[in-house]
Amino acid sequence: MTASPPKAPVVAEAHEVDTFQHPSKPHIGSLQEYETLYQESIQEPEKFWGRQARELLTWQRDFQTVKSGSLENGDCAWFLEGQLNASYNCVDRHAFKDPNRVAIIYEADEPNDGRNLTYGELLREVCKTAYVLKQMGVKKGDAVAIYLPMIPEALIAFLAITRIGAVHSVVFAGFSSDSLRDRVIDAECKVVITTDEGKRGGKLIGTKKIVDDALKQCPDVRHVLVYKRTGAEVPFTKGRDLWWHEEVEKWPSYIAPEPMNSEDPLFLLYTSGSTGKPKGVMHTTGGYLVGAAATGKYVFDIHEGDRYFCGGDVGWITGHTYVVYAPLLLGVATVVFEGTPAYPNFSRYWDIIEKHKVTQFYVAPTALRLLKRAGDHYVKHEMKHLRVLGSVGEPIAAEVWKWYFETVGKEEAQVVDTYWQTETGSNVITPLAGVTPTKPGSASLPFFGIEPAIIDPVSGDEIAGNDVEGVLAFKQAWPSMARTVWGSHKRYLDTYLNVYKGYYFTGDGAGRDHEGFYWIRGRVDDVVNVSGHRLSTAEIEAALIEHPAVAESAVVGVHDELTGQAVNAFVAIKDGNEVNDALRKELILQVRKSIGPFAAPKAVFIVPDLPKTRSGKIMRRILRKILAGEEDQLGDITTLSDPSVVDKIIAVAHEAK
Ligand code: WT7
Repeated sequence: MTASPPKAPVVAEAHEVDTFQHPSKPHIGSLQEYETLYQESIQEPEKFWGRQARELLTWQRDFQTVKSGSLENGDCAWFLEGQLNASYNCVDRHAFKDPNRVAIIYEADEPNDGRNLTYGELLREVCKTAYVLKQMGVKKGDAVAIYLPMIPEALIAFLAITRIGAVHSVVFAGFSSDSLRDRVIDAECKVVITTDEGKRGGKLIGTKKIVDDALKQCPDVRHVLVYKRTGAEVPFTKGRDLWWHEEVEKWPSYIAPEPMNSEDPLFLLYTSGSTGKPKGVMHTTGGYLVGAAATGKYVFDIHEGDRYFCGGDVGWITGHTYVVYAPLLLGVATVVFEGTPAYPNFSRYWDIIEKHKVTQFYVAPTALRLLKRAGDHYVKHEMKHLRVLGSVGEPIAAEVWKWYFETVGKEEAQVVDTYWQTETGSNVITPLAGVTPTKPGSASLPFFGIEPAIIDPVSGDEIAGNDVEGVLAFKQAWPSMARTVWGSHKRYLDTYLNVYKGYYFTGDGAGRDHEGFYWIRGRVDDVVNVSGHRLSTAEIEAALIEHPAVAESAVVGVHDELTGQAVNAFVAIKDGNEVNDALRKELILQVRKSIGPFAAPKAVFIVPDLPKTRSGKIMRRILRKILAGEEDQLGDITTLSDPSVVDKIIAVAHEAK
């Protein structure tokens, strides 16, 4: 690291004097320095990224070729001859230097139930767990599924898997057993890691039971490693299920990390697209880690001694990159928060920030909207160590941005609205804290190595200059971009690289204003964003069809004050079924069961028929307009096979209001 801020005790004891001072300056000195470095990253990416990769990571074998392949051919690869290990970079090198430094600040669901883990302890735990996995027969390149709540063992599991060269495939512990089953099968996982139960917001979650249900249809899973979180009685399948605490105590606390090639897979993470089943997005070791470390350092301005708190779940990409990899690669403390922002009350985040002297906080606007609405009397905290406030996952409205800056950050901390995706691996359009001037609602300027293009979706041509609107694409490969979709490279090419040849297509609409700042408008495909969770309308429709009463369904995302977007479903049912609230409830349950509770429709409209063109295509645009109360702006409906359905749908929608 370039700057060396004064070392503050990681967790100050009550009697200690708090000697904290903000680091005197960010890693990047000025907007001009950003611009110079940015130009270098675009004109001479080999030089820029070669330097970053050597500075930020420890390589077991150096690389010679920084970059190869092209977006046209979909064969981008980085740091080719290099070898490294993710867990070594996240743990060993810090543990050797300073074993007593805090790595994980575990804030349990119940305040005061938590504990800290130092880098020395983390190394020992990771090694023991790595041994356990080896004993279970996990080999280099095998995928291991993680279905865990937000506890330190989730991070230990990530790192133990990478230590032996295996590939983690984390499934958010809010997904249903059906979703878990599909992901375990697709990645051919032989081992699943879970807990007896989870605890969140004072409620218990039956993780082991969900795993058991999922595995009924996964005959290839040999072992389930179960961490005892609550001590509940859970059924155990003899031979298959093993207790974490009983297994780890059998093994020594050091095992050498497996040297991995830079392009070896690091993890799979399933994400929804506009069509088909969820895609297993694949990230590789060298490039992904460089992106995580570089954005941690420059976007969040992480310095030694910082305590970084990302409120995202490890089940999503935000948790992968910013709960686990970025802070640990940079050797700082990461807060692992098991609970919710509303438990035991709406002060929980601020209590955590105050208690642990958090320096960077990162969360989705949906949580901020909830907390803003709860009232400022919950935010009485000084939080004087806060330097950076991050926002992620959905557009942040200007008034929420201002509240974050003024009420949470006391106009001292910098707000960074970070735009990125599961597929980009790390932040791609974002301010650098303390460097980039911000405009509430704009993700501002591209990160190093990102060359954005605004494309006219009709002509497919790039639109040059400022003050333009279109869809967002990137013109150059960057180290942390996804390399493929597991088992379906063609799908990867078709979704991201063949839409506009020579570009990576994000799926988002965006504007570039008169000063070259980017404004993300939201998805242009059938992906809805509920509380920062990415859902596919096609997937929810497929879930609804599984119900025997459903003939057809159409799902749309509608604006929602709290969750950003909400799922609304229109369902045409088969003759002979009664339309009542019980059926509506069953349909919602159906989605909870096939995908997970977070995908459940907020409203279900049972209609006689859906608006379809003569060729059978469902006109979701009309449904969106009706929900928005814009019945007078439906446009031309004469192309519908039966235009009279429109009035019937309007009647149903009105009745529901
Ligand atoms: C989609 C990606 C990346 C972590 C969380 C979501 C939307 C993301 C922003 C932002 C406006 C944003 C986009 C993107 N999105 N960040 N700062 N402003 N929209 O990851 O599930 O892969 O979803 O989230 O629509 O395409 P994801």
